[in-house]
Amino acid sequence: MSPVASAPGKVILCGEHAVVYGAPAIALPLSGIRAYAKIVKGDHPLTIIAEDLAEPPRVYRTGEMDMADPLALMARLAVEYLDAEDISGAIRLKSDIPIASGLGSGAAVSTALGRAIAMLYASEIPDKELSQLVYEVEKLHHGTPSGVDNTVVVYEAPVYFIKDHSIDLIKIAKPLQLVLAETGIAALTRDAVAAVRRRRQSAPARTAATFAEIGAIANEARDCLASGATRRLGELMTANHRLLQGLDVSSPELDRLVAAGLNGGAYGAKLSGGGRGGNIIALVDEHSVDAVRAKLLEAGAKRAMVASAGEGTGDDDDSD
Ligand code: MEV
Repeated sequence: MSPVASAPGKVILCGEHAVVYGAPAIALPLSGIRAYAKIVKGDHPLTIIAEDLAEPPRVYRTGEMDMADPLALMARLAVEYLDAEDISGAIRLKSDIPIASGLGSGAAVSTALGRAIAMLYASEIPDKELSQLVYEVEKLHHGTPSGVDNTVVVYEAPVYFIKDHSIDLIKIAKPLQLVLAETGIAALTRDAVAAVRRRRQSAPARTAATFAEIGAIANEARDCLASGATRRLGELMTANHRLLQGLDVSSPELDRLVAAGLNGGAYGAKLSGGGRGGNIIALVDEHSVDAVRAKLLEAGAKRAMVASAGEGTGDDDDSD
């Protein structure tokens, strides 16, 4: 069997957008929803086959790659890091993570690809360095990423993240049970981040106050995760969604799904990631999961997936 590298999707539990401006955020890996990179040894120059990431499937060959393309850039950065110009073989990429939906598809595909290139070269890229390479690729998606996505995806552990601070992997009492519901609207993080930047320019004081409120939510959510206070965590998520509405990164479809999730008995619900489309996350337990899923589908969700978030090896120590 060919060896396979992989990386998880992610959710932002709280703090998206404000994290770009220095507020804390909490992100959790979705270990069951992943991107995969299958390694096929061969004598030909490095070739990457993106099977279900592009329609029709795209093939990248060394020497013909456009560095404005995230996969090509990731391949180049990994080859340079490993000093592996003579690398040969092929990598086939596949992913379960919906694209442009706030679930970290870009970071996960880049991470799996970087790991696969290292495996093909019988080497390894340590997490800290890999996270840095993936961060460089994230800059193509939107110029000013906070770094939260590459961190949670590469370390595959719950993270309390403050931009430009050392990495804080956290322990949580138990993984969260979530329903992820898709609006079916593909949204670019770049556009949502640009909208928040404009808002910050036109209403600086109000926007700063919102960021501070979101930061306070992230801090309290960290305590709730540690103690297993699920009910309060849900309230904080819903409060975070209301603040994101105020930043104009929600949409009628996202708001409708959040309302439906709450109506079905979720502890809390919010958009997750860039917003404007993509997914909402609803915090549930075994008693509410079926009713919440049903309400979300009834309210127009294109898909409602049950996922466990936050399994991982958070060690409370600083990984820097
Ligand atoms: C995207 O998952 C999260 C944002 O806060 C952007 C970022 O942190 O770079 C919207």
